[in-house]
Amino acid sequence: MRLFPVAGRFALTRKLMEVHKREAVLILGATSAIARATAVAFAARGDALYLASRDEEELRRISADLRLRYGIEVHYGRFDAAATDTHEAFFETVVTTMPNLSGVVLAFGHLGDQQAARDFSAGAKIIASNFTGAASILSHCANHFEPLHHGFIIGISSVAGDRGRQSNYVYGAAKGALSLYLQGLRNRLYPSGVRVITVKPGFVDTAMTYGLPGLFLVASPHDIGERIVAALDKSADVVYLPWFWRYIMLIIKHIPEPIFKRMKL
Ligand SMILES: NC(=O)c1ccc[n+]([C@@H]2O[C@H](COP(=O)([O-])OP(=O)(O)OC[C@H]3O[C@@H](n4cnc5c(N)ncnc54)[C@H](OP(=O)(O)O)[C@@H]3O)[C@@H](O)[C@H]2O)c1
Repeated sequence: MRLFPVAGRFALTRKLMEVHKREAVLILGATSAIARATAVAFAARGDALYLASRDEEELRRISADLRLRYGIEVHYGRFDAAATDTHEAFFETVVTTMPNLSGVVLAFGHLGDQQAARDFSAGAKIIASNFTGAASILSHCANHFEPLHHGFIIGISSVAGDRGRQSNYVYGAAKGALSLYLQGLRNRLYPSGVRVITVKPGFVDTAMTYGLPGLFLVASPHDIGERIVAALDKSADVVYLPWFWRYIMLIIKHIPEPIFKRMKL
């Protein structure tokens, strides 16, 4: 008679384990504050990680901390978004190290100085870091996942890409291009079952925004990281973080251009 409750308990445990399939995730730009919080949220679920950015010493420290605190598998390696000729070899190393790679989070970005970006050489760096480098590495990720018929790509874009403003239109243009690229990739990869999620944060309290004037409704990286990972369990394709930015941007996008061009934004 007691067999049935015990069997029931085993079935429940199995069901709980099935609820979350362990992922193996590459995080690009892993030293960023938002990426660190995202890595912690993945680690708390027991997922394996490959952390990448230009600062190997910092990556080593983050990896050691995650291994110690969560007992998960963590690898790391140098990645420079601007060095597009190195991306193919870099991605091959990731897949060789972590053959069960199941997802990618693209978190790197460079806000730059809009004033300095009036000079194109400074603007080119912003475009290379936020868009050209992203398009390059994502092409390798997409070509890898497509024939496997599984996987996910989460691209961190920005609300800044929804409308050009004088205060950050070079960064905004690069993020807007990234959002369009992710949209096209989602359309291409949908038939193969590979998920592409565009994340558009508003203001987040990180090194990128430190000391900037005019910030409002500033979110914590911890909150954003948790919501990025939670987005995998929902069906949305484009996620504004926090949610209310969807409505703020809806209003901003609908201000008629003859009025908008007169505004100081
Ligand atoms: N903070 C915000 O308010 C906000 C709002 C909307 C969107 N976002 C976006 O969210 C993402 C994370 O932002 P964050 O505020 O957390 O950033 P952050 O703390 O300022 O970090 C930026 C990261 O990008 C990496 N990076 C920059 N250029 C790179 C390159 N050429 N190659 C590789 N990595 C590069 C840096 O890593 P290394 O120096 O180690 O290479 C750094 O870890 C970015 O894409 C950003 O545009 C941020």
